[in-house]
Amino acid sequence: MALQNTNPTKTNAWKKLQKNYDKTKNLLLKNLFEEDVNRAKKFTVQNDDFLFDYSKNRITENTIKYLLELANEVNLKEAIESYFKGEPINQTENRAVLHTALRAKQSDTILVNRENIIPEVYAVKEKIKTYTKRIISGENKGYTGKPFTDIVNIGIGGSDLGPAMVVDALKFYKNHLKMHFISNVDGDHVYEILKELNPETTLFIIISKSFTTQETLSNATTIRKWFLRSEFKTKESDIAKHFVAVSTNAKKIADFGIDAKNVFPMWDWVGGRFSLWSAVGLSIALSIGFANFDALLMGANDMDEHFKSTDFSENIPVISALLSVWYNNFYNAETEAIIPYSQYLSKFSTYLQQGIMESNGKSVDRNGKTIDYQTGTIIWGEPGTNSQHAFFQLIHQGTKIIPVEFIGFKKSLYGNQDHQNKLMANFIAQTEALLNGKTSEEVILELKTKKLSTKEIKKLYPFKVFEGNKPTTTILIDKLTPKSLGKLIALYEHKIFVQGIIWNIFSYDQWGVELGKQLANNILNDLTTEKNEKHDPSTLNILRNFKN
Ligand code: F6P
Repeated sequence: MALQNTNPTKTNAWKKLQKNYDKTKNLLLKNLFEEDVNRAKKFTVQNDDFLFDYSKNRITENTIKYLLELANEVNLKEAIESYFKGEPINQTENRAVLHTALRAKQSDTILVNRENIIPEVYAVKEKIKTYTKRIISGENKGYTGKPFTDIVNIGIGGSDLGPAMVVDALKFYKNHLKMHFISNVDGDHVYEILKELNPETTLFIIISKSFTTQETLSNATTIRKWFLRSEFKTKESDIAKHFVAVSTNAKKIADFGIDAKNVFPMWDWVGGRFSLWSAVGLSIALSIGFANFDALLMGANDMDEHFKSTDFSENIPVISALLSVWYNNFYNAETEAIIPYSQYLSKFSTYLQQGIMESNGKSVDRNGKTIDYQTGTIIWGEPGTNSQHAFFQLIHQGTKIIPVEFIGFKKSLYGNQDHQNKLMANFIAQTEALLNGKTSEEVILELKTKKLSTKEIKKLYPFKVFEGNKPTTTILIDKLTPKSLGKLIALYEHKIFVQGIIWNIFSYDQWGVELGKQLANNILNDLTTEKNEKHDPSTLNILRNFKN
């Protein structure tokens, strides 16, 4: 069953939402809370260790009712079934979208081209398990007989961001292995990392779904040459012990000189930005051990089950996506901030930028027609409380509306309750401040108590007023564990899916990144030869300047 091609703006629900927006846009959240004592309860979902409170959003019961009607009018239920069943919903590439199969239960059956893919998924998981055990225990050794101490992940985009984010997020659970990530084709980045490494004890994982990505292949080639430097007394045959690859492209891997037994396969039904659950996550499994890696997968599976089987009115990814559509398309919000109150999640919003913006940054609908409404949101964010001392000023008193998602954990990992209380006091205080703001009366009263003169108060008070009424959503999780992190990541993956269905776009291709790659190849040719392709005058000028 193909996905439906409904222009969301032509649905009845959209019209109702437009009217609802006109009617409610000037309502104050603090009044809505006063008028309805049950508001917080009504707009909160508790799913095991996840509390999802969306009551501080600029919505009424009718807004939610119409958003849910919109989900039904675009046939979201059927679309979810097609997604999980492995139908080729990535229609422009004729592929299924089955990152969910990577964390399915062994007893599940998911068919691709009439073949159950679960046994293959579990065979690769078994290979990851055996391999990681051997590296962590020191059973597999480097070319001089020493156990491995350092692991280098060479990849970019989805072959870097997911593993790098998770390795960082779960470093509390890590073992002795030191993890490094080389992504950028910037040679200085490569050499800065190489200078820390001893080739005798370093394992390199080359990750590229396509095995054609310029950055990854250049970095891998440079590193291979470095590894074979005469001063290290390495031989070609030592490559087999120190280099492994993860890819769908067996031929290109062989051409690169990597032994077939050192290859971890992946599949074209896994999108790069959703691939950390596959062997692309090998660095995660090496860092925290296979059991923790599996717990990450099982956490994601929990969210998959919640998403598949929960009524939309209680469905966290569905509600989260609908709220995003509400602000994006009715409030014309350009961006959304994601603020985790955990330093462990400092790479989380960067990771989500690829997932969300590469998926839903589209301007052609599923009929191939140019879209005349807004799609993908711009995502950004940094951990709190650091961000409070950096850009929160603009969220509080700027002119833009920026919905913010606050993510926090009840328990800290090292158990320092004093710090945790302070961290979470800030977490809660920010959502309260954004909701209530501070009125001129409150500001004047405060200044009076500070004994300021009437003249001084009159001059100062406008700058100290906080308008408030800024929308926030709170996700409060018991504790940061491999399982809860898996569940959190999967929440956003499904949010991306729901948004794409509503906006009537294909979320799982990324044609928009191709042109830059093509032009970079042409320009590289211009830079390294005497030839000059045709360019606009500005480009030509920059090119000449660089060459001289
Ligand atoms: O250029 C974008 C992209 O194709 C991403 O979608 C992908 O995650 C990244 O490049 C890396 O691709 P690969 O894993 O094939 O090297």
